[in-house]
Amino acid sequence: MRVVSGIQPTGNLHLGNYLGAIRNWVRMQDDVTAQGGQCLYFLADLHALSQPHVPAELASNTREMVAALVACGIDPERSILFNQTQVPHHAELQWLLNGTARMGWLNRMTQWKDKAGKNREGASVALFTYPVLQAADVLLYQATHVPVGDDQKQHLELARDIAQKFNNDFGAGEEVFTLPDPIIPAEAARIMSLRDGSAKMSKSDPSDMSRINLTDDAETIMTKVKKARTDPEPLPSDKGGLDGRPEAANLVGIYAAMSGESQDAVLARFGGEGFGKFKPALGELLVESLAPINARFIELRQDRAALDAILRQGAEKARKLAVPTLEKAYAALGL
Ligand code: ADP
Ligand code: NA
Repeated sequence: MRVVSGIQPTGNLHLGNYLGAIRNWVRMQDDVTAQGGQCLYFLADLHALSQPHVPAELASNTREMVAALVACGIDPERSILFNQTQVPHHAELQWLLNGTARMGWLNRMTQWKDKAGKNREGASVALFTYPVLQAADVLLYQATHVPVGDDQKQHLELARDIAQKFNNDFGAGEEVFTLPDPIIPAEAARIMSLRDGSAKMSKSDPSDMSRINLTDDAETIMTKVKKARTDPEPLPSDKGGLDGRPEAANLVGIYAAMSGESQDAVLARFGGEGFGKFKPALGELLVESLAPINARFIELRQDRAALDAILRQGAEKARKLAVPTLEKAYAALGL
């Protein structure tokens, strides 16, 4: 079993990123390696070029993301953690696959239709072809499994179609590429702003009080939780009672995601209590769970040498796996 997954580098990481994305990677790493499999995790910095981006922020966001991943439990000894640009074989294989991918297939991608909107003429070519780069990202390593959320299912289908057509057209009876199967990840928590129960917790929210950052110290976390917006009612005794109470539902959801309990189990304990009792308990739970992550994150993100070493070693390991596939692809194409 070989799992390949990429994440876009972003800075200012927060509790939403942790519970909604990073923690699932850590769990997958632990599950897959326990079964003798291997995970390759990469920072998808080439994919950042499909949308407008700030060059000066890309490198620092990448380092920040690596620091967060390692602080949260991605183990660079057990998983191969690397930067896409440090393995140029991704871009190289994409070009080879461009000969196999069909315009009609890419035209049907709903992400393309959604992101380009009415401005197709003004969209970058990268926005159109990045699903081919995604295919290269996984086919390069003969991935057997790729975790995909709903919005990415179609792109994995495309990767399979490309692999199958390439094998048929050029494989001379051999499988140049493995067809990867999807893994549907466990449903990720969706964390809302602490100031507005209808908005996602996000780094782009101008109010720092709206989110718990992975860099926040214990006192800041306690203050933010205590000041989180709520309604005046006591907590209900089950999840159904949270309907129509988005702020309360968010805080209970965060508690449950963090403690690993169901929301009903949390409410069985706190039902009937006011937020004066629940918020300090939630704050303490967050502080206790995030303190080790926070300490490691802050230490690592300023240790550029350590981060660069992690990425260098990851890229070396990734290249060893990539080279044989790329050589096979070139040979099959007669190049
Ligand atoms: P932001 O919304 O802060 O800009 P990104 O869009 O960079 O965050 O998201 C990076 C990853 O974190 C994505 O996988 C995304 O689904 C996840 N994520 C971001 N915000 C949340 C949230 N509030 N709840 C759950 N997951 C989130
Ligand atoms: Na976003």
